[in-house]
Amino acid sequence: MNILSVESSCDETAVAIVRDGREILTDCIASQVDLHRLYGGVVPEIASRKHIEAIYGLADQALARTGLSRKDIDAVAVTYAPGLIGAVLVGVNFAKAAAMAMGKPLIPVHHIRGHIAANYLAYPELEPPFLCLVVSGGHTMIVEVKDYTEMEILGTTLDDAAGECFDKVGRVLGMPYPGGAAVDRAARQGDEHKYQLPRSKPGANPYNMSFSGLKTAALNLIHHAEQVGEEIDIPSLCAAFTAAVSDTLVPRVELALKETGYRKIAVAGGVAANSRIRHDILAAAERMGAQVYMPPLSLCGDNGAMIGAQAYYEWKAGNVADMSLNAYATKSILGETL
Ligand code: KG4
Ligand code: ZN
Repeated sequence: MNILSVESSCDETAVAIVRDGREILTDCIASQVDLHRLYGGVVPEIASRKHIEAIYGLADQALARTGLSRKDIDAVAVTYAPGLIGAVLVGVNFAKAAAMAMGKPLIPVHHIRGHIAANYLAYPELEPPFLCLVVSGGHTMIVEVKDYTEMEILGTTLDDAAGECFDKVGRVLGMPYPGGAAVDRAARQGDEHKYQLPRSKPGANPYNMSFSGLKTAALNLIHHAEQVGEEIDIPSLCAAFTAAVSDTLVPRVELALKETGYRKIAVAGGVAANSRIRHDILAAAERMGAQVYMPPLSLCGDNGAMIGAQAYYEWKAGNVADMSLNAYATKSILGETL
C-alpha cells in the first residue's frame, strides 16, 4: 500500500511516499528554518504562507522521484494535530483535496504518533508493545505503545517541553534558532560540573517531569553573569544544561522499564537527536538488558515519512476520515481534544 503523506505542523513542509508503513519510497522536505531564524523563532503566519507555496511542488516532486503516478497512490495521510493551527490547516486542506481528487482514503495522523512511528522505518523488526521516550519541541513524555494505535502516557512534562528549553537557552546564548543542535555541539566541549543546575521531581507520578525550573535557573545564571560582567563558559553551561535534561529523562525511562517489565525502549522526536541523551539512554538500556531503538537523526526531526508509517497502521485499524476532517492545535496522543 503506497501512502502519500503530508506534514506541515511547524516549520518543515514535507511530503513522502511510504510503502506498507515500513519502506520510504521518497521523503521530500522543504525547511523554513533559515527564514524563521531571522526572527529567533517560528513566526506562525510566515510558516502557513510558506507551506502553501511549497506543498504542491513537493507532492509533484515525490511522484517524480519515485516514478509513480497518481493511480499508484492508495491513500493520502496528513498530520491533523497538534501544531500551529494555520500551518496544520494547510496540510489538512491539501490532503483533503488530493484524496478527493484521486478518490482515495484520507488518513489523519497525530504528529507525535508519527514521531514514534519513525522507529518502524528505521527498524523493520520493531513491533509493539514497547516503551517510547518522546522528546520534541512541543512534547516530552514516556509512552507505553501497547499496539500500533493503542497507547498510554505513563508520564509527561507538566510545563515546558525539553526542546523548547534547549531552544530558549540556545537563544539567550546567542545561538541561531533552533538552538538544540547548537547546544548539543557546544556541550561536547564543556565541563558539565562547572555549573550547578536543578533536577526537579514534580508531584506524585514518578514519571512526570518539569523543565521550567531548569530553564529559569539556566537563564538566571546567564543574566546574572552578564550583570556582574562575568564571562559565561558557554560549552560548560550547555554541558550542565544537557546533563540536567538527560538526568530528568533517563532515570524515568529506567524506572519505566523496571516497573513495566518491557525490554524494548524507543526514542522519538527532534531532541532524540541529542548525542548526550542518546548516549545515556544506551547506557541505561544496557543496564536494564533492554533493546534500544533510535531513529537516525534524519528521522528524529519532522518529516513526512513518519506520518506515512503511522498512517498505514491507522488505516489498518479503520481510522480514516471524511471531508469534514479538521485541524487541531492541541490534541492528546490518545485522540482526546484538550
Ligand atoms: O520533533 P521536532 O522536529 O519538532 C516538534 O515536533 O517539536 O523537534 C524540534 C526540537 C527543537 O526544539 C530542536 O532544537 C530540538 O528538537 N533538537 C535538539 C537537537 N536537534 C534538534 N535538541 C537537542 N539536541 C539536538 N541535537
Ligand atoms: Zn515534531
